[in-house]
Amino acid sequence: MSFLEQIDRDRIPSHVAVIMDGNGRWANKLGKDRLEGHTQGAVRAREIVDAANKIGIKYITLYAFSIENWERPESEVNGLMALLSKSIVSQFADLIKYNMRLTTIGDNSMLPDDVRADIEEACHKSAANTGLTVVIALSYGGRYEIMNAVKTLLKRYKQSPFDIDSLKDDDFSKCLYTADMPDPELLIRTSGEVRVSNFLLWQISYSELYFTDVLWPDFDEEQFYKAIVDYQHRERRFGKTSQQIGS
Ligand code: IPE
Ligand code: IPE
Ligand code: MG
Repeated sequence: MSFLEQIDRDRIPSHVAVIMDGNGRWANKLGKDRLEGHTQGAVRAREIVDAANKIGIKYITLYAFSIENWERPESEVNGLMALLSKSIVSQFADLIKYNMRLTTIGDNSMLPDDVRADIEEACHKSAANTGLTVVIALSYGGRYEIMNAVKTLLKRYKQSPFDIDSLKDDDFSKCLYTADMPDPELLIRTSGEVRVSNFLLWQISYSELYFTDVLWPDFDEEQFYKAIVDYQHRERRFGKTSQQIGS
């Protein structure tokens, strides 16, 4: 039986986040340039977005470029930026056709002007769509996001002081890039690395983590469904006992 058939349609996670890792190693293995790995990675990203849409996931967040990735060789950074623009522009028509909404999290101001313009246009034109929300984490850093939220709250306090002791988790969540999204129930990372690499640090506090050795350019639709099935077999206890969950 395929993994798709094993999925319980009544327990689909609303938000899945993905650390798409291993493009460089995939290319190395085949004696190709790293950028060819990224190109094949972009093809998989599209396949996984379609898979998420097919099973009714509401939000999928794809880690495409971290703040730390700016430190890579200039040629790789430029290649990645060009690939991002190209992928978004070439897939825009389908985005609209399937009623998907594109949005980004991260510091857009660091992006080259033309890349930012292409992305902002696609986000703007798809903003009213009501289907799957595709979130691209771009120039994204979790600590950076948290620091920004702290600064937002401090500035607000300076303008009009409030009762600090009454601040709730939710007040902080609302200052993050992900303010209007549910936290991811599931975080997937490919390529065998078992770390979170500064991704959604606040939001993944109770996410189920799924690690696989498969390199991102090999991570196909069935691999994605396999992760969903694995997630559906977990017992999410949120600090309670198994008995409490069962009752
Ligand atoms: C993930 O693949 C894509 C980005 C970080 C942009 P990598 O480029 O990190 O691939 P590896 O980890 O070197 O194999
Ligand atoms: C994480 O992958 C970032 C993305 C997938 C975009 P990296 O390859 O940059 O992570 P580290 O440096 O190995 O932790
Ligand atoms: Mg990597």
